[in-house]
Amino acid sequence: MIAQNRSRNVPHWFDMASLDGKVVLITGASGGLGAAVTQAFLAAGGSVVVVASKWPNPPEGTTALGADLSSEAGCTGVVSSTLDRFGRVDALMHLVGGFAGGSSIEATPLDEFDRMMTINFRTALNMLRAVLPPMKERESGTIAMIGSKAAVDMPDGLAAYNASKAAMVALVRTAAAECKKSGVTVNAVLPSTIATPAMRADATQAEAAKWVTPESIAELLIWLCGPAGRDVTGALLPMYGRL
Ligand SMILES: NC(=O)c1ccc[n+]([C@@H]2O[C@H](COP(=O)([O-])OP(=O)(O)OC[C@H]3O[C@@H](n4cnc5c(N)ncnc54)[C@H](OP(=O)(O)O)[C@@H]3O)[C@@H](O)[C@H]2O)c1
Repeated sequence: MIAQNRSRNVPHWFDMASLDGKVVLITGASGGLGAAVTQAFLAAGGSVVVVASKWPNPPEGTTALGADLSSEAGCTGVVSSTLDRFGRVDALMHLVGGFAGGSSIEATPLDEFDRMMTINFRTALNMLRAVLPPMKERESGTIAMIGSKAAVDMPDGLAAYNASKAAMVALVRTAAAECKKSGVTVNAVLPSTIATPAMRADATQAEAAKWVTPESIAELLIWLCGPAGRDVTGALLPMYGRL
């Protein structure tokens, strides 16, 4: 079956509708990575619920929800709206995240630590707390969260970002341990720089060629949602491109 929303960048095997109507919640869907992941999941046959703070132009073919995921109520609202509409959540692709850095630990304002912990850790924590109970009850679910290579490499000058992504990764591994008997898988993808339109805008072609593409991340996420991903949990999946 050829999906209606096929984009030029989506590989042909997505046309096989491999997701077969699975209900997939994609947070951060309006971002550079999120736009590509949304198109790939649509093309793979998912019933896609996209979440961002606001939606001036929601993607065609999706159910678009606006919510602040740094609040617990925002996350429980998104999950209950999805359950009301579709009756289940088969997969959560948590793409929300933000970046800041450039100073040593002592020169970084404390509020930068708070902002990074909120966007990179708190949103992930809130979404897990909202989506795990219905997934555990059904004994089925796929969760993937986007971390960063920085979560394990810890480059200098990025303490707030590094710590917040490392905290998110610790949460993912703990969730996987807690879900072992439930049939729910929980993994983190760790990209280096992603070749999103925003990142490409300031880069040379040679620089961008070393980065990981949004489309290849989307392929991995779809694979995790399929039968082959069933036994993969607690993994930190490096997607470093050529960096
Ligand atoms: N770009 C890179 O090179 C790179 C490298 C490594 C890892 N990553 C990670 O990859 C993921 C995607 O990156 P990206 O470049 O696509 O980011 P992006 O373009 O900045 O998009 C961020 C997304 O998160 C949403 N968001 C932010 N705060 C939110 C909140 N409080 N509540 C609800 N939604 C919120 C944004 O929606 P609104 O605008 O409506 O708030 C937007 O959809 C992030 O986790 C990022 O840390 C990116």
